[in-house]
Amino acid sequence: MKKIIVNGGNPLCGSVDLQGSKNSALPILAAVAAADGISVIHNCPDLTDVTAALKILEHIGCKIKREGHTVIADSSCANRFDIPESLMREMRSSIVFLGALLARFGNASVSSPGGCEIGLRPIDLHLNALRSMNVQISERGGRLNCKAAQGINGGNISLSFPSVGATENIMLASMSARGETVVTNAAREPEIIDLASFLQKCGAKISGAGQSVIRINPPEKLTGAEHTIISDRIVASTFMACAASAGGKIAVSGVVREHLDPIIPVFEAAGCESDFNGRELIFKAPSRVSRVKSIRTMPYPGFPTDSQAIVMAMLAKAKGTSIITEKIFENRFRHVPELVKMGADIRVEDGCVAVVEGVEELHGAKVTACDLRGGSALVAAALGAAGKTVVEEIHHIDRGCEAIEKSLSALGADIKRE
Ligand code: UD1
Repeated sequence: MKKIIVNGGNPLCGSVDLQGSKNSALPILAAVAAADGISVIHNCPDLTDVTAALKILEHIGCKIKREGHTVIADSSCANRFDIPESLMREMRSSIVFLGALLARFGNASVSSPGGCEIGLRPIDLHLNALRSMNVQISERGGRLNCKAAQGINGGNISLSFPSVGATENIMLASMSARGETVVTNAAREPEIIDLASFLQKCGAKISGAGQSVIRINPPEKLTGAEHTIISDRIVASTFMACAASAGGKIAVSGVVREHLDPIIPVFEAAGCESDFNGRELIFKAPSRVSRVKSIRTMPYPGFPTDSQAIVMAMLAKAKGTSIITEKIFENRFRHVPELVKMGADIRVEDGCVAVVEGVEELHGAKVTACDLRGGSALVAAALGAAGKTVVEEIHHIDRGCEAIEKSLSALGADIKRE
């Protein structure tokens, strides 16, 4: 079993390049299935979730070439609309292929993703939206069979919650819809804008991406395109939390400043300093961070749930008490007992509120990554802890952070993978 071993105490110093965004890459790779022809996707991160998405593309008949961080995909021979359970299970976000396959073939057969480490994660909003677009959906033996026998209809779709995945599935399915599709209360995340930008290059007309109302008009035929994935704002916040936990000053290259707007104020409240030099973030941590009175995770442009665990790791050693409320997922505090093993004083109230009493020092321990961001949080905490920490089950971290130990050791951390 692979593990990461950290000997804490080295302040971070130096510069690191930011990887491409996982949450952009996955829906864009699904969109590749909907677009007939060759697509060239640059800045595609080397992650197990991306490999899983590429396996799905190969399974449905696409030819894939990976050259460093560029994926060249020829989808002109795609001829299958079923995704076997074994591939669906490799990555929960494979549900985003549903809309893409419907757009391409008018048919899709996938297995229900079910719950995952961070919560139940139902897909009712995805399915209701697709039904309203004239897609017939039946569920049998854990498989979802979806068919648009009379074609997909556009129209008005109002989401009761701005779900990222549901917004993406609607955008993808609408690529072969009759007429305009208007999504109200759409997710506003930068990854939605990135997907829209790729689909526009493939021929679609889309306005309002990044706002609450998105208007989508599909082209006669969606064709492949060349695109560069945006950088990963969540991994940027991971490096910031690592530096805040260990102390020091780092530069993160490739950031998009406005993507970090919801995150920076929390780090500033903790006493960290951020300066931008074009697409480079210069981040300086104080010798000990201050508490942040209250943090609530919210849909974009609120504070992201994906940065909650790593910020909690930073605040575990803050001066004073911080309150973190998780509003998006119901099971996203699984890193708390692991941080407690390292000496953190954190209690969870009502399942969704964490009271973090900052301690003066954390100590090394043997801990287990329970999910992707929770696992990165343990690494962040370990960098600022006294002694040796062993983080197990690091396959969770590899889903979303590219060779985290290499980036951090380049910044001066004593960290290795075994
Ligand atoms: C995406 C991100 C994930 C991030 C999350 C919220 C990807 C690959 N993953 O996940 O990293 O944490 O956005 O920013 O982009 N919900 C329903 N019914 C639905 C859909 C969602 O009840 O049909 C609920 C979910 O259970 C959750 C909340 O809505 O409680 C947010 O989910 P959603 O925005 O859909 O997140 P994902 O797209 O799954």
